Amino acid sequence: MEVLITGGCGFIGTNLVDRLLREPGIDRVRTLDNYATGIRRVVADARVWEIEGDLRDYDAVLRASAGVQAIVHLGALPSVPRSLHDPMSTNNVNVTGTLHVLEAARASGVNHVSVASSSSVYGANPALPKIETLATLPLSPYAVSKLATESYANAYATSFGLHTLALRFFNVFGPLQRADHVYAAVIPRFLAALKNDEPLTVFGDGEQSRDFTSVHAVTDALTKALLRTVTSPTPVNLAFGTRTSLNTVIGLLQQLHPRPIQVTYAPGRAGDVAHSQASSALLGSLIPDVERPEFALALRQVYDWYMGL
Ligand SMILES: NC(=O)c1ccc[n+]([C@@H]2O[C@H](COP(=O)([O-])OP(=O)(O)OC[C@H]3O[C@@H](n4cnc5c(N)ncnc54)[C@H](O)[C@@H]3O)[C@@H](O)[C@H]2O)c1
Repeated sequence: MEVLITGGCGFIGTNLVDRLLREPGIDRVRTLDNYATGIRRVVADARVWEIEGDLRDYDAVLRASAGVQAIVHLGALPSVPRSLHDPMSTNNVNVTGTLHVLEAARASGVNHVSVASSSSVYGANPALPKIETLATLPLSPYAVSKLATESYANAYATSFGLHTLALRFFNVFGPLQRADHVYAAVIPRFLAALKNDEPLTVFGDGEQSRDFTSVHAVTDALTKALLRTVTSPTPVNLAFGTRTSLNTVIGLLQQLHPRPIQVTYAPGRAGDVAHSQASSALLGSLIPDVERPEFALALRQVYDWYMGL
């Protein structure tokens, strides 16, 4: 089987390439990326084909899709703050780009397409846990773009019979996640600060909580979904129902770090939600055997990776 990963040079994409190459049923992996936030890597494996191209260019997406059996659509401009600064680019890449991927998949006869949505679609809805049937109330252009992503995927399933799976990711973390740009996620930001002996910056009081999900679980679910042609007519949370506050994360990091951790509290950021925790029942019914590392253990692994231990 040959698989195309859009955004395959980003954080989750690079981890997924490595995961797929360990899978006997996978013959070749293509990545389509314009390196907006991803990094060009030289993978010393003849089974990997890195294609430079832009999701906004339909012909480029169509060419990249020809002959593959599955597409994992991860390519996007992620980050809530980025979308507040530049909503038009977020829409063009995330929404129009998704339409291009689905249309190319249909034209190329691709068997399975999974798309990356986000817990941010729940937005202002305060109910916990986040069960997929809750009303979606996006708070940012990014969240709107992810709602469009999953809606397009499900509409292509009902309209054209495409096998699709829209997965809502919840704060994914792990090795290869970048900390070196202004829109970096919280765990890599914390780890980079620790490595540089700088204080950790927390936006808000640190009691906001997230269902942090190891990238190993995400890549395992994506791999099993495409190998088994897992579909769902509705979006599916990809997280396990845990909820950890930033202050708790800092406490766990203090147990790993040899020096006292300094923390600076800054005002909360617009568009950020207070709490996030998934219901994982639907995921469990579709892919019951997703590998699920325990949070503290996965945090230790990524701490070791960042510190070069
Ligand atoms: N990391 C998380 O916690 C999280 C949470 C929810 C949803 N998601 C979604 O998962 C997906 C992957 O996220 P990630 O954390 O790996 O982010 P990332 O920024 O590391 O990866 C995104 C990739 O898309 C590429 N890209 C951006 N614009 C492009 C364009 N116009 N054409 C081609 N490629 C383009 C980037 O260069 C990058 O390699 C995204 O769709 C994101 O919205 C991630």
